[in-house]
Amino acid sequence: MRGRFITFEGIDGAGKSTHIEPVAEQLRASGHTVVVTREPGGTPLAERLRELLLNAPMDALTEALLVFAARRDHVQQVIAPALARGDTVLCDRFTDATFAYQGAGRGFDSAVLKTLESWVHAELQPDLTFWFDVSAEQAAERLAAARTPDRFEQQDATFFSRVSDGYRVRAETYSQRFVRIDSSVDRDAVSRQVMTALAGRCW
Ligand SMILES: Nc1ncnc2c1ncn2[C@@H]1O[C@H](COP(=O)(O)OP(=O)(O)OP(=O)(O)O)[C@@H](O)[C@H]1O
Ligand SMILES: [Mg+2]
Repeated sequence: MRGRFITFEGIDGAGKSTHIEPVAEQLRASGHTVVVTREPGGTPLAERLRELLLNAPMDALTEALLVFAARRDHVQQVIAPALARGDTVLCDRFTDATFAYQGAGRGFDSAVLKTLESWVHAELQPDLTFWFDVSAEQAAERLAAARTPDRFEQQDATFFSRVSDGYRVRAETYSQRFVRIDSSVDRDAVSRQVMTALAGRCW
């Protein structure tokens, strides 16, 4: 049986990386074999593309092509084989992030993104997507305390508000698999929401 594919989404600083390992531990404790991975990245080639995406200036189409090139390698090398083995895959960002950042954030044509998506992972969609929803201002405060900003994190709050709106539209469109997590509260309260959603699916 194909394994489950769970993605973690939200703007920079929303709490994705904070909660992915505890979810992995919870699933391992209930007997699942879990692969934790991230995008852009997850393979040696895709990690090299990640470095470029986060640091090199480029136009919107180049950015979209590189994101999907990295994703192609990641899906082929890691995600699809793991799901075929029956493993659970936890992925820190996936295609929803492309629609939110390159689409809503940068205003890039979502019809082109849809075409690229159909080329790269036609049928493969997440079974569950945690959307960590927090205001751009609160996320920026958390990140400022944590690290030096990359090319995306240097964007202003209006960019992240557009990205959040992009996620909101995705969550409404794909309401079956999206679970909105109120990420404005403390870590334990966020974690309780995530674990409750998992338990609700008996995973
Ligand atoms: N609920 C919370 N309350 C306060 N601080 C938090 C909370 N959740 C996470 N943080 C802190 O906020 C910072 C950003 O969290 P995290 O790295 O998990 O975000 P992220 O969504 O993975 O961001 P990015 O997309 O930039 O990787 C970290 O320093 C983390 O410790
Ligand atoms: Mg992170």
